[in-house]
Order: sequence, then C-alpha cells, then structure tokens
Amino acid sequence: MEEQTLQAQKQYPRFTPTERFEHILLIVTFVGLSLTGLPQKYAAEDWAKTMINLMGGVESIRIVHRILATILMAESIYHGGIITYKLYVLGRRASMLPGIRDLRDVIQWITFNLGWSRSHPHLPRYNFGEKAEYLAVVWGTVVMIITGFMMWNPITTSTVLPGEVIPAARVAHGNEALLAVLSILIWHMYNVHVRRFNRSMFTGKLSREAMIEEHAAELETIEKGELPPGRPPQVIERRKRRFWPYAIIMTIILVGGLIRFLTVEQTAITTIPRQLSVVGGPLLVSADNGQADQGATLWQTLECKTCHGENAESGDMTMNVILAGTKISFEAFVGAVRRGPADMHPFSADQITDEQLAHLYAWLRTLER
Ligand code: HEC
Repeated sequence: MEEQTLQAQKQYPRFTPTERFEHILLIVTFVGLSLTGLPQKYAAEDWAKTMINLMGGVESIRIVHRILATILMAESIYHGGIITYKLYVLGRRASMLPGIRDLRDVIQWITFNLGWSRSHPHLPRYNFGEKAEYLAVVWGTVVMIITGFMMWNPITTSTVLPGEVIPAARVAHGNEALLAVLSILIWHMYNVHVRRFNRSMFTGKLSREAMIEEHAAELETIEKGELPPGRPPQVIERRKRRFWPYAIIMTIILVGGLIRFLTVEQTAITTIPRQLSVVGGPLLVSADNGQADQGATLWQTLECKTCHGENAESGDMTMNVILAGTKISFEAFVGAVRRGPADMHPFSADQITDEQLAHLYAWLRTLER
C-alpha cells in the first residue's frame, strides 16, 4: 500500500533546464509581440489606440516589436542548433515529428471519447496534440519571419518579388498573429492549464497520474527499464568533434543573415515625415489669399463634404481627421488634396484650384473643433 502511494507521488523528468529557458523566452517574446503587434493591426479601433498610447506611442511600440522579433529569431537559430545536436550527436529520436502512430492515436482517442472503444490510447513521449502544437509554432514562426522581413525591408523584397506581396505580407502577418494568439488562448491554455494544471514546463517534472493519461507508452518503457540505451560515449565524442565546426559555421551564416535582415534597409524603421511637397509644381498662392466667406460658399458646392461632413466635422469615413479648425499648414493641406491620402482620391488643379483651396483653408481655420 505504502509502496503504491510512493509510486503515485513519483515525478518523471520531462524538460531540461535549457528547454524550460527556451519556453520562458517564447512566453516573453510571444506575449510582447502580441501586445505590441495586434494594436498595430487594429490601429483604427479605440481599444488599440488606448493600448498604443499606454505603451508610449506607435513609434516606441514598433521598436519594441522589432527588438522582441530579433530575440525570437535568435532563439529560433539556437533551437535549430539544439535539435541538430540532439539528433546528430546524442542520437535521439525525432520524437516531435508526426507519424502513422499519431493518426492511430487520434482515431483511438476519438473512438474512446465517443465510448466506442474501451481503452484510452497509450500515448508516447510527445503525443499528437503536443506535436501539432509544436509544429504550429514552428510553422507560425517561419511565416512571421518571412512576412516580417517583407515589411521590414520592402525595397529589398520588391527587387525580387512584385511589390504587391508587401501589402499581402502585411495581411498574412496580422492574420497569422491573430490565429496564433487565439490558438494559444484556446488550445494551449485549455490543454495545459484548464484540463489539468501542468507545471512541467517550469518544474521540469510530470506526475505519474499525468504520465498515465498523457504519456502512458513512455511511462511503460521507463518502468520496464526499456528506454533505448544512449550512444556509447566514444561515438558521442566523435560526433561532437564533427558537430562543432558545422555549428560554428552555421551560426556565423545565420547570425550574419539575421544582422542583414535587421540592417539591410532603414525604410520601415524611421517614420518618414508626411510629404509636404505639392504635387504639380510650386504653390503660387499663400494662405493669406484665402477668404473665409468664399470658402464657406465653395464647401457647399464641392464633393469634400460627402466624406468630411457637412461642417467639416469629420464623417464615418474620415474618422479622426477633422478639417474644421485644422492645425496643419496650408502647404500640407494643399499637398493632401493633390496627393489624396488613404481613401481620399487626389484632386488636380483642374478640379479645384490652389486659390479655391486657399479660400477653403481660410474658412476651415475659422471653425471650432
Ligand atoms: C472619398 C472621400 C473623401 C473626399 C471626397 C475628400 N476627402 Fe479628404 N480625406 C478623406 C480621408 C479618408 C482622409 C483621411 C486619410 C487618413 O486617414 O490619413 C482625408 C484627409 C484629408 C486631408 C488631410 C487632413 C490631415 O489632417 O491630414 C485634407 C486636407 C483633406 N482630406 C481635404 C479634402 C478636401 C479639401 C476635399 C474636397 C476637395 C476632400 N478632402 C475630399 C476622404 C475624402
């Protein structure tokens, strides 16, 4: 009896300190990247604006986002090295790769849950759910790195690929992020914290009870003493000697690639000031030429009010751009009209002259915000 309780309290080793450290890095970068990334995806929403302001404005969260992305990329390089070491030097099995066995386990698990089969599948060291989650992290990280590169280095990207891929990368980056956050919140939280609070990623150990449910096949091999013997030390030594030169060269190449990724161009890092130059030649009129009363009459005849509101107070479409009482300079005002920012189409001098714009500007400046 006593022996049984002892047995039940037994803990089984699961994660090494370095694996746990990698996981902590992943938590920090993942949470940080989500907190600084999603508000950028939803920048027009109020909650996102509040978050961005709380975190010190868009300029600073973009920097933080990039620092965290760099840490995650460095961690990915390190992870690649660790895997190579475990497989090549230590001769471990690729226990994270899915196989036919996992398919059988899923089917048995479903039939068991439906009550059609009596026995719960005996799951291996990494069960199908864990493999799926791991591969999703790997795949997600690859997608985020590639699309992140495209946004970070748009000019370099467009020398190789058509320019359209950059906005596409932006959409993919944002949606993959949303998918990742939702699956961590739902799948990971449920499986690891709700169904049973599994602390093994922090303590490194798993209880017998959890082992029976989630890794019965591994438990059996441990208890029967059937764990495959490790490689003989001489083999490990020999492989280590071959591994290190390779690892050093790969690290130099990959870290070099990472540095290039970060520095190849500055386009998307510095926030370029809004272009003020006026499309279509120098501006011959100044703000002083404008007459507010003429501007008021003009406004009634122009298309502007359909988007900017009857009294230039902003409309559904222009959101927080309020023309009434505008603070921008006359040059910037004319520049915006000629260029057509965002969803506004540009207006040429044939459609509305600089002089008319001066009248409008004068009138808009008399209005209260
Ligand atoms: C189809 C809708 C639409 C029409 C028509 C339109 N605008 Fe706009 N306008 C917008 C949108 C949307 C923005 C905001 C873009 C952004 O988010 O930066 C904008 C921005 C501006 C800005 C920049 C303001 C700032 O603070 O940056 C100016 C100036 C402006 N419009 C003037 C005009 C004038 C003058 C007209 C008429 C000749 C006009 N617009 C017609 C939709 C429109």
